[in-house]
Amino acid sequence: MQMLHTVAELRAAVHLAGAVAFVPTMGNLHAGHLELIRTARQRGLPVVASLFVNPLQFGPAEDFEHYPRTLQADATQLAEAGCHILFAPSVTEMYPEAQTCTVSPPLADELCGASRPGHFAGVATVVLKLFNIVQPRLALFGKKDYQQLFILRLLTRQLNLPIEIIGVDTVRAEDGLALSSRNGYLSTAERIEAPRLHQILQAMAAALMAGKTDLVALENSAVAELTRHGWQVDYVQIRAQSSLLAPTPIEAACVVLAAARLGNTRLIDNLEVTRPVQAV
Ligand code: PAF
Repeated sequence: MQMLHTVAELRAAVHLAGAVAFVPTMGNLHAGHLELIRTARQRGLPVVASLFVNPLQFGPAEDFEHYPRTLQADATQLAEAGCHILFAPSVTEMYPEAQTCTVSPPLADELCGASRPGHFAGVATVVLKLFNIVQPRLALFGKKDYQQLFILRLLTRQLNLPIEIIGVDTVRAEDGLALSSRNGYLSTAERIEAPRLHQILQAMAAALMAGKTDLVALENSAVAELTRHGWQVDYVQIRAQSSLLAPTPIEAACVVLAAARLGNTRLIDNLEVTRPVQAV
């Protein structure tokens, strides 16, 4: 595997490689990232991964400074997983001047955006820059970051980027906790509590499949349950898969999304569910 740090080196390597599959990451890799690499490899194209902790997507009180940076261990895992090129630029390589041209995506103030102002603009801006640098044929993102995936699909479609976006299922620990680089922040007691988030989403999905139609009641009781167990809840919401807005009564394909804090650690998760609806 080649490890490259500059845009010029990366462009030259991709020029030689031809069409590539691309897996953008912020590093501190876990099995969820390796699943993205594995899925990319199945498409038979050389795989480029990027590792860049993007300052633009962190708020001033967030964990940019403390975000785990584990470049050598990540590079070893990527090489073992069959990644061909790792692009690991510095902040000045990505942002040689103040980034005054930014992408302002829709839904940026919804769900996770409500408590993370500027986050999705930062994500959309860096991903568009990375897409322009790597110029991949396809790009892979985890479904755990459901809103991010939704926004990046929209950006790719509406800005006519010639890139196929592939969403890859969330990889979970045995107890159901969605794998995340931030799980490493959890104390032992918090790690024991953490799977409750997934369990609550599963219960909500089961209720929807059983025909429950009072979505607000389901959301409120999930919030109450999490709060009772010491979580600080940002949101628990049932949205339509097609729009990420509140589903109309005839929309079957929904997704239950949640974000909540255990101590200082903010966890997110979601579950897609197809509910029975009355034909009109
Ligand atoms: O999901 C992530 O790791 C990041 O948001 C991404 C897509 C690499 C952009 O920095």
